[in-house]
Amino acid sequence: MTPPTPAPSRTHPATLRWVLLGALAVFALFLVACDDDDDPGGTATATQGTASPTPTEGDEDPDGTPTGPSGADAFTTPEPGEGPRSGGEIGQPASEDDIAAIDIDVVPGGAGLPEGSGTVAEGADVYATNCARCHGPSGTEGGIGPQIVGEEGPWEPGKTITIGSYWPYAETVYDYIRRAMPFDSPGSLTDDEVYAVVAWLLAEEGIIEEDAELNAETLPAVEMPNRNNFLPCWPDECRPDVP
Ligand code: HEC
Repeated sequence: MTPPTPAPSRTHPATLRWVLLGALAVFALFLVACDDDDDPGGTATATQGTASPTPTEGDEDPDGTPTGPSGADAFTTPEPGEGPRSGGEIGQPASEDDIAAIDIDVVPGGAGLPEGSGTVAEGADVYATNCARCHGPSGTEGGIGPQIVGEEGPWEPGKTITIGSYWPYAETVYDYIRRAMPFDSPGSLTDDEVYAVVAWLLAEEGIIEEDAELNAETLPAVEMPNRNNFLPCWPDECRPDVP
């Protein structure tokens, strides 16, 4: 693109004089301003002060909550016990299926264990396919993940933490593996595969027989070696010496 050719100047000499005078005046003001920079209470500081926007009324609620389209006015704020926020067209109610998909906790005693079953032999395959690349071919090696097999319980200081040495309940082994493993694709195993891999791990640790099958009845019956190594009650009940 060619820059436009400047039009020939037609400035009258008198106009030029005023322009020069104006430039001088601006220069003089500039000098005064520079001088005031050293003075903390001077005009330069005062000018800076007025440059920042002064809050106008209506920008803030008395309690400091910003208002406006993206502020508190766009939503209703619930009173305690009133239920979730409404308005703003955000989200949707969770369906029973949504909740069921993540309501999968299994707790000591067996509550929450799903239907299905798995054997030690099936678990060997599940482990080799889904777990060995991180925990090692037999679980005793570790790698990206920790060693999880190969230490006898009960646990004591200096011993490696493995399923056999540390975990107090087979139910929480099941719960943890089902919700958290494989580390890079949690939730990808079927309930049967989780039963099977737990069976294989417990057999490797010598806790159940090689021909065992785990299901919602047999799994809670497993007695873990470190079962009694945790406090059976809160410190203020059973450890009065702990403040
Ligand atoms: C991509 C790697 C990876 C894969 C695959 C994987 N794990 Fe893990 N696993 C990890 C990591 C990393 C941790 C440590 C997580 C932490 O401490 O938060 C872990 C922790 C565990 C633990 C807890 C160890 C402890 O006592 O603290 C168990 C049990 C376990 N994994 C079992 C399995 C089983 C069974 C499988 C196969 C179904 C599996 N993992 C697949 C990486 C993996």
